Amino acid sequence: MRVALVTGGTRGIGAAISTFLQASGRKVVASYAGNVDAAQAFQKATGIKTYKFDVSDIAQCEEAVKRITEEVGKIEILVNNAGITRDATLMKMERDMWDAVIDTNLGSCYNMCRLTFDGMRESRFGRVINVGSVNGQAGQYGQVNYAAAKSGIHGFTKALAQEGARFGITVNAIAPGYVDTDMVRAVPADVLQKIIARIPVGRLGHAEDIARGVVFLSAEDADFITGSTLSINGGQHMY
Ligand code: CAA
Repeated sequence: MRVALVTGGTRGIGAAISTFLQASGRKVVASYAGNVDAAQAFQKATGIKTYKFDVSDIAQCEEAVKRITEEVGKIEILVNNAGITRDATLMKMERDMWDAVIDTNLGSCYNMCRLTFDGMRESRFGRVINVGSVNGQAGQYGQVNYAAAKSGIHGFTKALAQEGARFGITVNAIAPGYVDTDMVRAVPADVLQKIIARIPVGRLGHAEDIARGVVFLSAEDADFITGSTLSINGGQHMY
């Protein structure tokens, strides 16, 4: 059974991805950064083993990949899902808000791919799925940091796809729209109502809508799909 690691995999979109991958026959482990209670509850409910580390810190990532490999097996499916927001207009955005979002949302993709790619090359099999965002495709008022990081993920995906192809490793991105999670619920209610009004399907996404896409892209026979971005956004942004 192939081992799949979902970063930020105990809450929100990540939790749905973890359980969907498990249901599709993968041995899943999930990482989390800080919310121990949520992670313990998730592990108890699903049987999915959880690991606490900061995806923006390459030393912690290295230690965690080593432990997961020893305790569970080699990671051959990597879902870079962990992400944060520090929303503010540029003029109110402090440098630490920029750094935190770039390091956590984009630097993490470097860290985790750098540490698992060699193993995938050895296996002649790998699936990397990076979670981008509609806001990386279209931009969003108050999110120069987040939009830059998520947009970076889309470029990262297309570059790494070219490096992985001859080793049987596919690298794809999913660009979720606004999904009903704690992150989106933190958007001021009046702003969120205006955003929902612009979604043709007329609702926020469900975490499961995104998880379904990850299962599709990580399938054994999805080997001709690489370097692509799957937009799952209720029609909010099309191109
Ligand atoms: N376009 C143009 N003008 C806008 C605007 C927009 N989209 N949004 C706000 N403005 C205007 C306001 O009307 C206001 O103008 P006035 O002063 O003339 O009234 C001005 O900009 C300042 O707006 P705010 O009062 O909202 O400014 P603020 O500093 O209090 O807050 C903000 C700014 C924190 C960015 C807040 O607007 C906000 O939280 N916006 C939501 C950002 C968002 O969508 N984040 C997504 C998080 S979820 C996520 O990221 C997941 C994912 O991948 C989709």
